[in-house]
Amino acid sequence: MKVLLTGGAGYIGSHTYVALKEHGHEIVILDNFSNANRLVLDRLAQLFQEKVEHVEADIRDRSTLDDVFEAHKPDAVIHFAGAKAVGESATDPLKYYSNNVSGSQTLLEAMDAAEIRNIVFSSSATVYGVPQALPLTEDHPLSSTNTYGATKLIVEDMLRALHGADPRWSVAILRYFNPVGAHPSGEIGEDPGGIPNNLMPYITQVAVGRLAQLKVYGDDYDTSDGTGVRDYIHVSDLAQGHVAALKLMNTGTCTPINLGTGTGYSVLDMIKTFERVNEVSVPYSIAERRPGDVAANWADAQRAKELLGWQAQLGIEAMCADGWRWQSRNPKGYDQTN
Ligand code: NAD
Ligand code: UFG
Repeated sequence: MKVLLTGGAGYIGSHTYVALKEHGHEIVILDNFSNANRLVLDRLAQLFQEKVEHVEADIRDRSTLDDVFEAHKPDAVIHFAGAKAVGESATDPLKYYSNNVSGSQTLLEAMDAAEIRNIVFSSSATVYGVPQALPLTEDHPLSSTNTYGATKLIVEDMLRALHGADPRWSVAILRYFNPVGAHPSGEIGEDPGGIPNNLMPYITQVAVGRLAQLKVYGDDYDTSDGTGVRDYIHVSDLAQGHVAALKLMNTGTCTPINLGTGTGYSVLDMIKTFERVNEVSVPYSIAERRPGDVAANWADAQRAKELLGWQAQLGIEAMCADGWRWQSRNPKGYDQTN
């Protein structure tokens, strides 16, 4: 298929580019580089010895979207573009409504006008709010605990309404759990600007000496060792999940699907495994709980297996080894002059 990746220069988008290329798909990236480094395009080009087809544009720019659809005529869109920092969504909510909600609406309007009615959307396990039961199935009630989550829920609702009104739309709503790690080449990986919000990039930056110490947010949760438990998924597995989700295009269905491993690990499991697998030390101290965190969540990954024939293959050792390969080879991320 020919696939447009909005936000394709970002962390998950760049890994999905690799997976799609390996499956012979044709790809165009559309990204405004608000949270990505242009050097990622050079790395992708090196991996495949081929120029990366890309457009520097914002998904809120309707006339450019029209031009892109006219010029490239993609069969489907995988829609990663958006802002994703939970904390920032509290202090700058309009950025989230504009980028995530208005941006998605503009994209869908342009797709409809161009008669491209196949979309895979990056949603998040955050739409389950505070888990009422584990594992989280796709039927778990939806709610939001922060503005970022609220915008994901609105876009999911927009997609459900659109499909309800016009069943020619095919929609795969992928609810990611916690993507971590990097492509095994060490050439692409997660390169957050500023101090990382998330556990894995924080661990890798402590290990490489960019940050002094990790704070473990709480050790008094009702979990095996008291620290928070999450369903970490290797970003390469997640990328393969997108390739598999293309099966749902042109089916006239609208389906939410969890992309997780089905297994939860604690913060201390992640630190200890990272240290053991990579033979590095990750100094940490126990700190207060982070407001808004839940004790534990992990996916019921059955639906992805049944509908997509997809399941995660890589365990936390690979997540830790590959995350470290990326960070140790690129201590400052893509731009070593930082
Ligand atoms: P990312 O920030 O690395 O990638 C997003 C990309 O979108 C960036 O390259 C950014 O420059 C681009 N972008 C942002 N706003 C844009 C706009 N208006 N127009 C064009 N491009 C724009 O994030 P990621 O981790 O790769 O996440 C991708 C998607 O997956 C996001 O929608 C995110 O909310 C969702 N998601 C991520 C996680 C996670 O933990 N990483 C978990 C669940 C869901
Ligand atoms: N953690 C620490 N120290 C840190 C960072 C995180 O102890 O410096 C802990 C957290 O308390 C949590 C676990 O590590 O127990 C994972 O935290 P992350 O920030 O990596 O991931 P979250 O599960 O909190 O957040 C992820 C996505 C969000 C999404 C959320 C809910 O990053 O976008 O899942 O699905 F909203």
